Amino acid sequence: MTPKIDLHCHFEGTATPSLIRRLARRNDINLPDGLFNDHGGFAWTNFIEFLNVYDLASTCIRTRLDYRDVMYDYLKSCAAEGAVYVEIFSSPDHAAATGMSYTDHVEGMAQGIDDAERDFGIIARIIVTCVRHLGPKCALDVANAMVSDPHVYVVGFGMGGDENQFEVADFLPAFERVSNSGLPTTIHAGEVNGPHSVASALDILPVSRIGHGVRAAEDLKLLERIAKTGQTLEICTGSNLALGLYDLDSHPINTILQAGCRVALGSDDPPYFGTSIGAEYDRAQNHFGLGSHGIARINQHALAAAFCDEATRQKLRSRFAF
Ligand code: ADE
Ligand code: ZN
Repeated sequence: MTPKIDLHCHFEGTATPSLIRRLARRNDINLPDGLFNDHGGFAWTNFIEFLNVYDLASTCIRTRLDYRDVMYDYLKSCAAEGAVYVEIFSSPDHAAATGMSYTDHVEGMAQGIDDAERDFGIIARIIVTCVRHLGPKCALDVANAMVSDPHVYVVGFGMGGDENQFEVADFLPAFERVSNSGLPTTIHAGEVNGPHSVASALDILPVSRIGHGVRAAEDLKLLERIAKTGQTLEICTGSNLALGLYDLDSHPINTILQAGCRVALGSDDPPYFGTSIGAEYDRAQNHFGLGSHGIARINQHALAAAFCDEATRQKLRSRFAF
């Protein structure tokens, strides 16, 4: 099986409907209304509904053991598809909404990472994220929590949420706080908003990766710039297709690669978008025609862009034939 790397997935967004049901039972809570559709899947039809349902499902994840189990469950499924390394976004704001402290949510996830490495050999690290639509003050609080309570598995900082809210510059204090502490950062941009959103992130924030960034393909000069400056785009085609950004024939992954940009793959929120890291690699290799050479290039870019320490990167390199 081709070894795979997932550089873009959201912890809360990896929990399947059946796991959410199990956690609700274990925590003795009622499932929130409006969470599931008639087919048992998460009930959303557009990006804003997706964000709302994601928040609802997250309210069922509320103990250290829950954090451990969600992490373990996702890493187990990734390992079964040949993934050797996963970087997973965690959201302290979602944890806080159910009364979990920053430290408890990180330690729960770390336990899941340790257990999965022991059982399946897969390695994972955490990127702590803020939520854009909660605003710059919450973002700075998350950055402060992360910097003042470091954990060896927390290797970077990011921002998800509604890209149409606030200006990139509003978040500079949060990104600078993390960057000044020596950790790398990434931001969701060029997903539901256009190329200018990616350009402002590159102009203003100390980011070395862009979450999605696919809509940079609408501006070839911007693609040239990204190719030159070397930031890696975390591309999640299954998510883009499910959210209706593109169809299979119009997705710009090849335009982006041909422009010389560095690309890694991610599953984003697998049960919401009907995807997995295995499906992302399969779509890239077979539908988008990257072939085994294109996949090897993606793995090289992903490994180089991973936020883990150098010893872990070297250990991971031995799993690849390059
Ligand atoms: N949070 C979880 N998934 C997300 C996505 N695809 N875009 C923005 N924020 C998110
Ligand atoms: Zn995402």
